[in-house]
Amino acid sequence: MEKPHIVTCTAPVNIAVVKYWGKRNEELILPINSSLSVTLHQDQLKTTTTVATSKSFKEDRIWLNGKEEDVTHPRLQSCLREIRRLARKRHNNGDTTSTDLTGLSQKVHICSVNNFPTAAGLASSAAGFACLVYSLAQAFGVEGELSGIARQGSGSACRSMYGGFVQWIMGNQEDGKDSLAQQVEPESHWPELRILVLVVSAERKPVGSTSGMQTSVQTSCLLKHRAESVVPHRMEEMIKAVRGKDFAAFAELTMKDSNQFHATCLDTYPPIFYLNRVSQQVIHLVHRYNRHYGETRVAYSFDAGPNAVIFTLQQHVPEFVHMVQHFFPPETNGEDFIKGLPVKHTPVSEQLKQSVGLEPMPKGINYIISTKAGPGPRVVKDPSLHLLSPDGFPKL
Ligand code: DP6
Repeated sequence: MEKPHIVTCTAPVNIAVVKYWGKRNEELILPINSSLSVTLHQDQLKTTTTVATSKSFKEDRIWLNGKEEDVTHPRLQSCLREIRRLARKRHNNGDTTSTDLTGLSQKVHICSVNNFPTAAGLASSAAGFACLVYSLAQAFGVEGELSGIARQGSGSACRSMYGGFVQWIMGNQEDGKDSLAQQVEPESHWPELRILVLVVSAERKPVGSTSGMQTSVQTSCLLKHRAESVVPHRMEEMIKAVRGKDFAAFAELTMKDSNQFHATCLDTYPPIFYLNRVSQQVIHLVHRYNRHYGETRVAYSFDAGPNAVIFTLQQHVPEFVHMVQHFFPPETNGEDFIKGLPVKHTPVSEQLKQSVGLEPMPKGINYIISTKAGPGPRVVKDPSLHLLSPDGFPKL
């Protein structure tokens, strides 16, 4: 048997501060509005994917989080087809860095894992498809613009192809060639910015984004208004706030955009509810905390589920985390309530607690992941970290 060629890469999760919700083309995954996100640091949240290619493989196969999955999944097929198409094109153009034609016809084995529990309800499709496309590109020796391919796996995945602050420009061509992600600023641009993911306990699995946004496009006139008349200006304002590191402006736009996204969900018929009582309580906590200081120090954002993503500046993290711990008392106040970047302990004044004045919700929040903006996909050099063994089959 010929030894398989093996590569391993990692890719990040991203959180949109101007949300993508609604497609104009389901197959190509073309959105009805542009969006903007912050790429989260891979030290805390990442997908790792290993791709092996070999003449000996009979068919394409994929294992996700330890389980073999159906490789005929249409979105997975789109990504595989587009990477192979790109590789063939490079080869025909006489680009010697790309694999030879025999390599192109080889089958792939793909193995992918997340370093965070799927049960946490954190969107994993963005990191997953970004990592898939990046690893396949490495395996087939293609470089350059890949966000248009990641987009065809999952819309939000195109933004995970870059680090820092990333916009997905909706484009207007029928073929989607101009619907691509672009870095607005690198992760080093705003080092004081911190992100806290508050993992909320949920009883039920919410409606998936793909079907949810489909129903919204069909039924919500608020969504149409948002896409046509709100987002274009909001994108400009958001880019300005990010470039100028204007936290108050960034925070207000982030919260308003999250709220409008959830309003379009409520305007969907039948309505979709992603926020639960804990999410609502977090919203109150943030606004009351900001009101207490007479300035916008903290912002929230929610995707298609009840988890809250908090944006704040480094200097406010200890106090705000303490507030979360106070109003959502965990089972144990131990170390494992706060994961990721260390958070210093700080005393909080009674006056602040009183001025927030919420009814505590014990165990409303399972844990906090403390993180910051981070880089885009990376190649993992250390071969001991491959998820596939030298024969091209899963190690575990
Ligand atoms: C609420 O990218 O998961 O997180 O393109 O159908 O795969 P598909 O949807 P997906 O939708 C993400 C929706 C969101 C907002 C966002 O990330 O912009």
